[in-house]
Amino acid sequence: MQLDIVIRETTKEDFHRVLRFIELVDGDFYPPLSKRGDGGISERVRTSLAASNANYVVAQMTETEPSDDLHGFVSMVGFTRMWQQEDDAYINFLATHPSYRKNGIAHLLYSRLEEILLEKGVNRVYLCTWSDNLEAIRFYEKLGYMAYSIVLNDRGNGINTLNYRKRLDRKFLMSAKQ
Ligand SMILES: CC(C)(COP(=O)(O)OP(=O)(O)OC[C@H]1O[C@@H](n2cnc3c(N)ncnc32)[C@H](O)[C@@H]1OP(=O)(O)O)[C@@H](O)C(=O)NCCC(=O)NCCS
Repeated sequence: MQLDIVIRETTKEDFHRVLRFIELVDGDFYPPLSKRGDGGISERVRTSLAASNANYVVAQMTETEPSDDLHGFVSMVGFTRMWQQEDDAYINFLATHPSYRKNGIAHLLYSRLEEILLEKGVNRVYLCTWSDNLEAIRFYEKLGYMAYSIVLNDRGNGINTLNYRKRLDRKFLMSAKQ
């Protein structure tokens, strides 16, 4: 699949597209993000777009149909900087539109995210997933994430939470800039 896409950080004007995109993939999360008791998806998006240390990075098609209420959003990742320390970040969301998976879009998006985080002074990134999300586990481990703790049966039904972290390589940013 050949796609013309741009990768960019979102702004407050993207609120409805970001919300719509998360609603689209909500059922792919365990438990769904809408059931997590932290104010719901809308509050989650509003908080992220308003905070100076949080945002989403989106892969968006350059040409879209006027009827497309996602405005060409095909993949999106959410992050919070200064999560536990000044120089770390937490990835709080990652998904690709179900019709565009396995095209390398999340890899492309993730590489840009690392550049953005390095430029903002981030040295370590944390995230979590759940034990039967094999696609995500493979994805993160190929990117160099290492599991540092497992919370058994954290999500019920024998599903564990896997906590991952990765140290970012500053040399990568230097070479990308040359
Ligand atoms: C995890 C997720 C974000 C990956 O998104 P994606 O855009 O499909 O990711 P990519 O295409 O970059 O890579 C996925 C796989 O497709 C493969 N792939 C990439 N281009 C490909 C192509 N042209 N043909 C076939 N396979 C391809 C990649 O090699 C990779 O396989 P691997 O993991 O065995 O290496 C996606 O599966 C998703 O949205 N899942 C639901 C939400 C979710 O679970 N999020 C994570 C929560 S912690």
